[in-house]
Amino acid sequence: YDIMSFMDANIVRQKFLDFQVARGHKIISPAPLVLEGDPTTLFTGSGMQPLLPYLLGKEHPEGTRLTDSQPSMRLQDIEDVGDPRHTTVFEMLGNWSLGDYFKEEQIRNFFEFLTKEVGLDPSKIYVTCFIGNEKYGIPRDVEAAEIWQKVFAKAGVDAKIAEIGSAENGDKRGIKPGERIFFYDDKENWWSRGGGIDTTPIGDPCGPDSEVFYDFGEELQDEEKYGLAHPASDGARFMEIGNQVFMQYRRKEDGVFEELEKKNVDFGGGLERIAAAAIGSFDVFKISLMRPILEKLEEISNKSYDNNTDEMRVIADHIRGAYLLAAQGLAPSNKTQGYAMRRLVRRAILRALDLGISSNFLSEIVPIVAENYKDLPDSILTHRENALEVLLREENAFRKTLNKGLKELNKLTKNNKILDGKDLFKLQD
Ligand code: ALA
Repeated sequence: YDIMSFMDANIVRQKFLDFQVARGHKIISPAPLVLEGDPTTLFTGSGMQPLLPYLLGKEHPEGTRLTDSQPSMRLQDIEDVGDPRHTTVFEMLGNWSLGDYFKEEQIRNFFEFLTKEVGLDPSKIYVTCFIGNEKYGIPRDVEAAEIWQKVFAKAGVDAKIAEIGSAENGDKRGIKPGERIFFYDDKENWWSRGGGIDTTPIGDPCGPDSEVFYDFGEELQDEEKYGLAHPASDGARFMEIGNQVFMQYRRKEDGVFEELEKKNVDFGGGLERIAAAAIGSFDVFKISLMRPILEKLEEISNKSYDNNTDEMRVIADHIRGAYLLAAQGLAPSNKTQGYAMRRLVRRAILRALDLGISSNFLSEIVPIVAENYKDLPDSILTHRENALEVLLREENAFRKTLNKGLKELNKLTKNNKILDGKDLFKLQD
């Protein structure tokens, strides 16, 4: 693998927690992926989700400065898995200020963590801020942009401010020499549980955010497909590695936004993505938490990652997700979270078939995943010892179903019969 240097992702996680502890944060235990008493989502999808009551004003027993690394699952990204950066499962490094420090300390600290602890080149870091919104009278976040300017100046990096507005405008405009701080609209830089500014739920805290991107190199931008490169582009040059949400407003009953007396910071950064930046690889699957899985898949299939990238990424991602669920005591089933888990296992097995792996292989992959996750606390991985068994049982059961389905298919296609809709439904069943 063409990686420039090596920093284990487990070390990145530890460094982050140590860094936050040295700045007065308490490490809290991450929440399980299946959050009890939260009917809004199937899985914990970010570090702030379990902390919502505290971000809404409840006092946290551990104080006003908190940190953790939260295993998160975003099944809504499942169709994007296969590209170099999307995964359904990831860890979100998080730190929170509950009415304590605000923009200045957050921005300075995160920049220091990235450049001094992880060792990223400051000149490869680009950031975005909120442009403001006239309709609701929310000013542009000049405060955050000015803090960033000072931080970059101290690191000797030229940091001009640019006004982009919408991501679509960014695709056409691109970036000009010296520009490093970019103002975008609410689609990119406003955070609320409802997404954009119009859809901010009544009563909720919300606010502008400032996202941080790493530049993996101009040559990576596919301009024909994605337009010119800029931080919020879907192209591969820039990858978001962290988001600092400044919760400074609350949406009132009449729909307008009022300034909060106690302002919070909600920071979330993808561990896998920061670890990828640390080794200079735009492909997150090459980090230490995933590379050994790919190597094993190459060995079992006798095929290379370079020529079978999509399949191997999907398999690695899905087995990581299924393992985390199994290690938390979940079993595959036909509904809700159990069904999502079953889908992950089945999709991994089907993609393995595409690689020519037609017999059971989870017994070779799952122990590698378990080893990679050995540093996660026992308080959330409560069923580590049963995880392999649960997954092997599911693999066996699915293999039987597949064989039955294949027999059915052979029967249906006898005499070169063309399959109709009814046949297809039967097979899908
Ligand atoms: N909670 C914020 C996010 O998910 C940090 O981007």
